[in-house]
Amino acid sequence: MLLFAAVLAATLLVAIVLGLRIAQRSVEDEIRKRTSELASATTLALKRVGTDDDQLSEELAATVRKHRGLMRVELARQAALGIDADFTAARITPNGILFSRWRGPATRVAGEVVDDPDSGRALRVVAPFNDARGGRARLVLLASLAEAERLVAAERRALLEVAVGASLFLVIAFWILLGRILIRRVSALQLAMRAVEGGLLDVKAPGPAQGGDELAYLARGFNQMLTQIRGFNAELTHKIEEATAELTRKNRDLEELNELLVDARRDLTSKERLAALGQLAGTIAHELGNPLNALNGHLQLLARRPDLPDPARQQVPVLQGEVQRMTQIIRRFLDQTRGFTPAAEPVQLAPLVDEAIDLTLGTEARAKIQVAREVDGAEVRTDPGLVRHLLTNLVANAVDAMPNGGRLEVQARQEGRDVVLRVTDTGSGMPPEVKRHIFEAFYTTKPNGKGTGLGLAICKEIARALKGRIDVDSEPGKGSAFTVRFPVTDAHTA
Ligand SMILES: Nc1ncnc2c1ncn2[C@@H]1O[C@H](COP(=O)(O)OP(=O)(O)OP(=O)(O)O)[C@@H](O)[C@H]1O
Ligand SMILES: [Mg+2]
Repeated sequence: MLLFAAVLAATLLVAIVLGLRIAQRSVEDEIRKRTSELASATTLALKRVGTDDDQLSEELAATVRKHRGLMRVELARQAALGIDADFTAARITPNGILFSRWRGPATRVAGEVVDDPDSGRALRVVAPFNDARGGRARLVLLASLAEAERLVAAERRALLEVAVGASLFLVIAFWILLGRILIRRVSALQLAMRAVEGGLLDVKAPGPAQGGDELAYLARGFNQMLTQIRGFNAELTHKIEEATAELTRKNRDLEELNELLVDARRDLTSKERLAALGQLAGTIAHELGNPLNALNGHLQLLARRPDLPDPARQQVPVLQGEVQRMTQIIRRFLDQTRGFTPAAEPVQLAPLVDEAIDLTLGTEARAKIQVAREVDGAEVRTDPGLVRHLLTNLVANAVDAMPNGGRLEVQARQEGRDVVLRVTDTGSGMPPEVKRHIFEAFYTTKPNGKGTGLGLAICKEIARALKGRIDVDSEPGKGSAFTVRFPVTDAHTA
C-alpha cells in the first residue's frame, strides 16, 4: 500500500512539474510571439510618425499605455547608432511614463528572457528598422513575464490540489479494492496453502468453478494441483502398502524357512543324541546280556537239582520268567536304538489302546483320572509294536501332566488312508518355550530320575518311520492334545 502511494505521488509530481514547465513555456512563447508582432506594428507606426522626438515619444507612450504587460519601449535613432548610440526610452513607473536617453549597441533580438532590476523577469525584443528619413533605428520592447508567472503559479496550485485529491481518492479506492476484495481472497488462498503445508490435503481454495479473474484462475489451478497431489498420494500409499504386504509375506516366508532350519538342526542334534544313546544302550545291553545268560544258566541248573526245597523250587520258574523278560526288554531296546523298521500286519486298534492304558495307569492314577476311549473297530495294516510304543509314551506323558487328576481321552481311528491317534489331557499344558523343545532327545522338565526326555523324541522317530507326523496343541493350565497321523501300509508293500 505504502509503495503504491509513494509511486503514485512521485508520478503525479513528475506529471505536475512537466505540465507546469510546458505551460510556462507555451505562455512565454505566446508572449514572445505577440511582443514580436507588436514590435513590427510599432516600427511601422514610428515610421509614419516621422522624426520629431516629441511625437515619437508620444507614440511610444501610447504603445506602452495600450498594451498591458509592456514595461518599457526604447527607440535608438541613426545618429546614435554605432559606438555611442542615443535613443529615447519610455519606462513605466508608478508615477507614470518616464522618458530617458540611453546608450548601447543595436542587434536584433527575437525575444530573450532577462532579469530586470525594476520589474523582475521580462522578455526583451529588439527590432532594428529604418526611420522616416531612411536612417537606421532600433526599437526595444520589454514585456513583463509576471502575468505568465502568476498564471503558472495559479495553475500549479490548482494542479497540486487536483493531484492531492486524486491521490487520496486513488489510495482510498485502492485500499478498499485491495483490502476488501483482493486481500481477503489472497488470505483465503494463503490459508489453504498453509493447511497443505501442514499435511492437510483435503482443503479447497475458495473460488468460482468457472470464469472469474486471475485470482479465481489461480485458486482453480491450486485446487487442480491439490487433486493431482491427492491422486499421486493415494497411488503412492497403495504402492507402499503393496510393497509392505509383499515384504511382510517375504518376511513370513523367511521366518518359516528359518523355523524349518532351526527344526532341522534340532532334529539333527536329536538324532545325533539318539545315535549316541543307541551306542551306549548297545554297550549296556551287551554287557548286561552276559551276566543275564549266566544267571539263566545257573537258574536252569538250580531247577534241575533234586534236593531243592519246595518253596524255592516254586520260585525258580518265577525268577527264570523275570530274567527272560529282562533279556527281551534288552533285545527290544537294542532293536529300537538301531532304528525303527516298521513291519506291517493287520491290526485291531482297540486292544492296542486298552493295553497302553492298562500298562501306563497305575492304581493311584486310575482313582484320580477319568479315562475316555474312542476307538475305531476297523482293522488297519500297520506295525502294532510301534503303535503300542506311541500310545504308551503319549498316555504316560498325559498321566504325568495330571498329578491332581483330570480327564484323559484316547482316540484311535482310520480317516481315509490315514490312521489317526490322539491323546488329550486336561493337565498342566505347556508354555511356548517348552513346546518348542519337547521333541528334542533328552529334553525334559521332569525331576531327575522321573524322566529321561526321550519319550517324545522316540515318538517323532516312530512317526517318521511310519511316514507320518506328530503334532501338539497345548495351552498352559488347560491341557494338551498330541496327534499322530500316518498312512496305513498297503497290503503289497509289507
Ligand atoms: N501331555 C503333556 N502335558 C504337559 N507337558 C508334556 C506333556 N507331554 C510331554 N510334556 C513335556 O515334554 C517333555 C518331554 O517329554 P518326553 O516324553 O520327551 O520326556 P519325559 O516325559 O520328560 O521323559 P521320559 O518320557 O523319557 O520319561 C516333558 O518333560 C514335559 O515337560
Ligand atoms: Mg515321556
